[in-house]
Amino acid sequence: MKEIREALAFDDVMMVPTYTEVSSRSIPDLSTNIAGISLKIPIISSPMDCVTESGMAILLGRLGGIGIIHRFMSPEDQIANLSCVAVVEEFHNRKIPKVAAIGVGLDELDRFRKLNDAIELDAIAIDIANGHSLFMREMIGRVKEISKDIRVIAGNVATGKGFTYLAESGANAIRVAIGGGSICKTRIQTGFGVPSFQSTCDAYAAKQSNIKYKDVSIITDGGIRYPGDFVKSIAAGADAIMCGKILAATEESPAKIVFDEIAGIYSKVYRGAASAEIQNEKRGGLKQGTCAEGVQTLLPLGGSAFEIIEEFCGGLRSGMTYCNARTLQELRDNAEFVRITSAGMLESHAFGTRKE
Ligand code: IMP
Repeated sequence: MKEIREALAFDDVMMVPTYTEVSSRSIPDLSTNIAGISLKIPIISSPMDCVTESGMAILLGRLGGIGIIHRFMSPEDQIANLSCVAVVEEFHNRKIPKVAAIGVGLDELDRFRKLNDAIELDAIAIDIANGHSLFMREMIGRVKEISKDIRVIAGNVATGKGFTYLAESGANAIRVAIGGGSICKTRIQTGFGVPSFQSTCDAYAAKQSNIKYKDVSIITDGGIRYPGDFVKSIAAGADAIMCGKILAATEESPAKIVFDEIAGIYSKVYRGAASAEIQNEKRGGLKQGTCAEGVQTLLPLGGSAFEIIEEFCGGLRSGMTYCNARTLQELRDNAEFVRITSAGMLESHAFGTRKE
């Protein structure tokens, strides 16, 4: 039988509280750098059609993160979204990153040309299901031929080898994790994927193996449910997280609002980029011989994404006080992970509570 190694998920681990001199949650500094863009907070919203258009990109940018404008629209519409971001940036006279997603192939290269001619992009995200591939390497090369200084966020990859391959291919930031997204069924449909926590640890080990990768950012993408998952991702080696679900029901998301007959409430439609629903709408149905690797769900309407970001950054700041960390690098250096049992995870959630 083949040797089978273990792969840990967020719920398999906790971090050990240590002696600390960080006495206040106002002390930790959450700043980070993604593909050469300086950020105040390590949060990026997903380039999904129900997560990031200009409204989300503007909010995230103003809070110090990045919102990546999705690619499930025409290049002209993407330019219109990026232009809105640019207008707000100019109005407030402060940096709001202008980043959009493209796929691979000649049409997508053409999309990049149009975006690059129209907007002063801070980075471009090349967004495909398995970024550890020759198509991705070639696309990075082509994009950099058109604009030699463009910063590239590429992904997704699930392993240290995937990280190294993309770093060697010229990616400036790499989205890490495959199959962990809340609306993803890649692992169920194909049997492939690695828990997002393990992928992050493996990518970080690859990054640390060679000094030349020190400026290549790691973005843990998919499966972030709680602030604790966020803290574990950064401690495991991520420079930022990417989120879909936690932002999809907020006021700033472009997701469609529908009435949920079963729950009797208005909800937002959150769907995977590889779901049958999006392929029916945008491409006239699933291609013959393929299967959907994403699902659609309804999420009760939420408030502003600002509240979610506040809560998640609050969790990160608080986590940093538990291990004497003033910076994200100190969190990575100081955090000691322990493996826990399912009983340990059970007692970690609030219990004995009842609904009034
Ligand atoms: P979430 O934050 O757990 O909802 O995960 C969002 C992430 O899931 C995205 O940033 C993508 O990397 C990934 N994703 C989006 N749509 C799909 C899909 O249809 N199938 C698989 N993964 C997806």
